[in-house]
Amino acid sequence: MREKLEQIKTLALEEIVKAQSMQELEQVRIKYLGKKGELTAVLRGMGGLSQEERPIVGQIANEVREAIENSLGSAVEGVKAIEKNARLAVETIDVTMPGKSQEIGHRHPLNVVLDEIKGIFMGMGFKIAEGPEVETVFYNFDALNAPQNHPSRDLSDTFYISEDILLRTQTSPVQVRTMERSKPPIRVISPGRCFRRDTPDATHSPMFHQIEGLVVDKNITMADLKGTLDLFAKQFFGVGTKTKFRPHYFPFTEPSAEVDVSCFKCQGAGCRVCKGSGWIEILGAGMVHPNVLKVCGIDPEVYSGFAFGMGLDRIAMLKHEIDDIRLFFENDMRFIKQF
Ligand code: PHE
Repeated sequence: MREKLEQIKTLALEEIVKAQSMQELEQVRIKYLGKKGELTAVLRGMGGLSQEERPIVGQIANEVREAIENSLGSAVEGVKAIEKNARLAVETIDVTMPGKSQEIGHRHPLNVVLDEIKGIFMGMGFKIAEGPEVETVFYNFDALNAPQNHPSRDLSDTFYISEDILLRTQTSPVQVRTMERSKPPIRVISPGRCFRRDTPDATHSPMFHQIEGLVVDKNITMADLKGTLDLFAKQFFGVGTKTKFRPHYFPFTEPSAEVDVSCFKCQGAGCRVCKGSGWIEILGAGMVHPNVLKVCGIDPEVYSGFAFGMGLDRIAMLKHEIDDIRLFFENDMRFIKQF
């Protein structure tokens, strides 16, 4: 029986040393120490031993059990390390493998130009105002002093949603909305989409962008309008840029003007960009009509203001010499990535 116990011990310790995983260790434990294990079987057979032999064999059996238990215990750490290394080997990452390239987009040229324009006006203390693209006839026309027979009100020029709701044809309704909800001094620009019934071609798109400007305060004069736009032109097109104000008509400004800048490409000599004239028209502007101030609850005897509106698409086309407005809306990355 003693030999049998010694044999169990030797075999068990050998198997423990060979174990490569926690599962294998557990199998060794069950095989020798489990209820149906080999050591347990030997202990059960002790009944057949003599009185003298029993305690001696019992002691040896205990020592064997302890030896196996200790060996199992101290094997755990090693086996865990083996398991961890095996896992690491399987999960290794080859950092030299080429990665999956992520296609990322590009800022749209209109946003690039818009951010530049915003930056210039914010530097002059303007805030950004916003208004809805689906607008009422009241804000788009009536409040802006547009007479009932004004051609832009025509069904052929404007997308009507219903009799009194439309897609705004200009950003000027934001003037009215801004004056209604805030008191002077007011200094805002309002960029956004506008819509007109136009057949798309190189210079027309039924959807386009404007940037509206509005300043209302005491003692605002045409000189402030000229100074503001002249500074803008110099910052945006270059320090040598000159501005020219030509008399014009808008229902919501009086007096009104169209504003030209000297051609930034040829400095006024005449070239392809300015079509030989040396000047480029960039916006409409004027002093806010007293009727518009009144509609918004601002006393025209106390306050005055100026407004302007420029076409963002047109300005971006001029600056980057893009010859077709439709390119902005086709989302061709080969075009967009150039800016
Ligand atoms: N809303 C005018 C247009 O679309 C431009 C404009 C804005 C003119 C503000 C004067 C003042 O043509």
